[in-house]
Amino acid sequence: MRHHKLALCADHFIEWVVQQTQRSIEKYEMFSRDKRILVAVSGGKDSLSLWDILLELGYKADGLYIDLGIENNDYSETSLEKVLQFASAHPEAHLHVVDVKALYGESVPEVASRVRRGKGKPCSVCGLIKRHEMNRVTLEEGYDVLATGHNLDDEVAVLFSNTLHWQTGYLARQAPVLPEASGLARKVKPLCRFYEREVAAYALVKGIDYIHDECPFAVGAKTIYYKTLLNQLEERSPGAKHQFYLNYVDARSHQRIRFAEDGESPPEMHPCPRCGQPTTAPGLCAFCRLWERKE
Ligand code: AMP
Ligand code: FES
Ligand code: ZN
Repeated sequence: MRHHKLALCADHFIEWVVQQTQRSIEKYEMFSRDKRILVAVSGGKDSLSLWDILLELGYKADGLYIDLGIENNDYSETSLEKVLQFASAHPEAHLHVVDVKALYGESVPEVASRVRRGKGKPCSVCGLIKRHEMNRVTLEEGYDVLATGHNLDDEVAVLFSNTLHWQTGYLARQAPVLPEASGLARKVKPLCRFYEREVAAYALVKGIDYIHDECPFAVGAKTIYYKTLLNQLEERSPGAKHQFYLNYVDARSHQRIRFAEDGESPPEMHPCPRCGQPTTAPGLCAFCRLWERKE
């Protein structure tokens, strides 16, 4: 690991990843030992490794898989298989599976093509559905916190994009922890200090079987292009990504970077009359409006 000037054998690498995760949990005060954690697992290396690490550390961590019904390359089916395989090897943890089509009548690509949002790609509808369902299950099943597998490369790409476009509203909210708010579960990203290849190495050494393919709709996404650019930067200056993100998070937590949004009271929210989740929209929330048919 050039950026850390550190070289470890397989056993010590695993130990290092587990210890560093515990350090992040403590540094950002993500959760304590007594909390019930719900890990959102996609079947990819990051979220399955996160679940593995939290169980390794002795946390009470269950999983949530959201079946989006993406049939291209059997993406959702294969992802589910990987998650089920992991869960069956960890009987101490419970897995919740939400099947979007079974629950709401349409898969993510189906609802996205009906509402025609997002220029022919289902990604924005998909993000909306995932956020809603993650929040719903976390609260309904009485979990204290929702954990996602976002790694350093994911966070850096988002930070880069938000900085490039000076989206201060998004910048103000980008952090390893999003505190609980009325109707919104607490959200944490315990792997945010690991490079993607470190997490991949963890999964490989631990023998975690995961889906290697990206979502078929992610092809050509802006964030993938930003990741390529940032990898070139990292190649020339090892540690650049780490510094860019962690110095930002540090400066934010010590209020050395401030945005106009910081002082503002959050926009007026009311519970959606159908699902009860908070929304700024008048009437139904954006999620519930997806399922309103106009015929
Ligand atoms: P992505 O937005 O695909 O980069 O995924 C970011 C994180 O969201 C992953 O690390 C998972 O924790 C979670 N996630 C993504 N897709 C799913 C899914 N289908 N079911 C549950 N969690 C997911
Ligand atoms: Fe949702 Fe790709 S469109 S994961
Ligand atoms: Zn709603």
